[in-house]
Amino acid sequence: MGMLSGWMRGAFARAFPEAETDFADIGVAETSNPEFGDYQCNAAMGLAKLLRQAPRAIAERVAAGPELPDCLARIEVAGPGFLNLYLDSAWLARYVERMAADKTLGTPAVGAGQTVVMDYGSPNMTKPLHIGHLRSHNIGSVLDRLHRFLGYRVVADNHLGDWGTQFGITIMGYRHFGDEAAMQTAPLEELERVYVLSYEKTKADPTWMEQCRAELVKLQSGDAENLEMWEMFMRLSMEELDRMYARLGVKYDVVHGESYYRDKLAGTVANLQAKGLAVESEGAQVVFLEEEKLPVCIVRKSDGGFNYATSDLATVAARVEEFNPDRIIYITDERQQLHFKQVFAVCRRLGFEVGLDHIWFGLMRLPEATFSTREGNVIKLDALLDEAESRALAIIQASSSDMDDAQQREVAAAVGVGAVKYADLSQNPQSLVTFTWDKAMALDGNSGPYLQYAYARIASVRDKYAERYPEGTPETEPLCFDEAIERALALRLIRFGDVLTRAAHQYKPNVLTDYLYDLAQTYSSFYQNVPFLKAPEGVRERRVRLCGVVATVLKQGLDLLGLQTLERI
Ligand code: ARG
Repeated sequence: MGMLSGWMRGAFARAFPEAETDFADIGVAETSNPEFGDYQCNAAMGLAKLLRQAPRAIAERVAAGPELPDCLARIEVAGPGFLNLYLDSAWLARYVERMAADKTLGTPAVGAGQTVVMDYGSPNMTKPLHIGHLRSHNIGSVLDRLHRFLGYRVVADNHLGDWGTQFGITIMGYRHFGDEAAMQTAPLEELERVYVLSYEKTKADPTWMEQCRAELVKLQSGDAENLEMWEMFMRLSMEELDRMYARLGVKYDVVHGESYYRDKLAGTVANLQAKGLAVESEGAQVVFLEEEKLPVCIVRKSDGGFNYATSDLATVAARVEEFNPDRIIYITDERQQLHFKQVFAVCRRLGFEVGLDHIWFGLMRLPEATFSTREGNVIKLDALLDEAESRALAIIQASSSDMDDAQQREVAAAVGVGAVKYADLSQNPQSLVTFTWDKAMALDGNSGPYLQYAYARIASVRDKYAERYPEGTPETEPLCFDEAIERALALRLIRFGDVLTRAAHQYKPNVLTDYLYDLAQTYSSFYQNVPFLKAPEGVRERRVRLCGVVATVLKQGLDLLGLQTLERI
């Protein structure tokens, strides 16, 4: 509640006009227990030293201030000096009505006028997506949608790894072991197969490795035959990626892979040299980052080749020029932390003013093993989603046997893919996720299917009402909360905008999943504890109306998470 925090800062300033602070850090927080008010401020505790008073005395002086804003019914001082704020119930009811009518459900457009470039997904080309590719695409696309919803202009860029060392190995592999027919039917599997064969050979045969390097140099210097092969690899990989993106619901504004910047690499190094930032060391061009306590950043290898860092430096410059962003946000796994620290440090030395954030996430594990890119036996993302859909189908066949086959399949696709996405999103990104089917598909826990079912149940309440009372107009019945559980539900609804802002700015989709799960649970105790359709006229209408607002918020939240909602499951 930005508004309440602002008021609180003013209240402190009025109570302590002589204080040598503007109280800018003061905020109020949501409470989890109604005993502590609807919102709480603990600032008095931190100000005791500065104001030379006991926290409780400070809180009492603030609470004794003459005026309360419209939204507050009362303030209480509690414990050592907490300020507990209680919202006015009539104000709360009007607020819920207004937010329900608002396109963004009361979410402030905090990003208006700002541009962010988001770099997520960004897989290395010519191999199928595997389970390790899920998190960057998934977390990235949620942060992307959240930022758009908050009014940011977002440029989602898929920074494909399409110009790296793997191409020398793949070209050699394809030339010697390639199978035309397999290339037609399953191109990525075939490319991966020849890559692995060729890669194995580099280990045993040093001349093979040299030949791979030579093919890469040929490609990078514009050899027609290698370029043609590379273009074919790209085209086939892209078709396959697009199919996966449709399945995952991932969309980009631009797809500028590393190759897009290939003509800018030499200029990038020349610029670093001209500015005295890059210097020669053992035949390579490097930027020393001792001040930042980081290892040297190599921008040109002793063999003349460019590095991953060079490519990212060229990319930052190009993005600044093309999109003039306020911030560039990168979403990759934890193993790239050092890389981005180095790149960002060099960018600061170059004087770039753009904000640069690296959001890293932990690896996803199945209980048995960690997924690793290089070794064989990796689980393909496609296969994981197939299994999710078939597991979902089994559940739906059991619970909704009256649906026809096609419908069941459609629902299973939404529930299956949703379950996988949600299992990832509901974790703190920085933690290691252990994926289990039981948890992902749980109908009674913090899972995608649980929320999709919750939504469908709410939708069915509305349908039943409409069936029984076709003339009813719950949308215009003024809200009012005579049961504590209704008020608890309303309090959660009005937090939606704050939750989205926090989830986006802290780069944590799990802030939103936690909120939706809590909302669905609160709704379910509302539904179980107070009569709806059997309530007297008027009460019935406003409960159905409140139910509708919950459905809208749930749907919007799930939408932002990339989960489809279904009116019927
Ligand atoms: N292609 C890299 C990988 O698969 C991720 C690229 C991330 N983005 C970037 N601008 N470096 O690990």
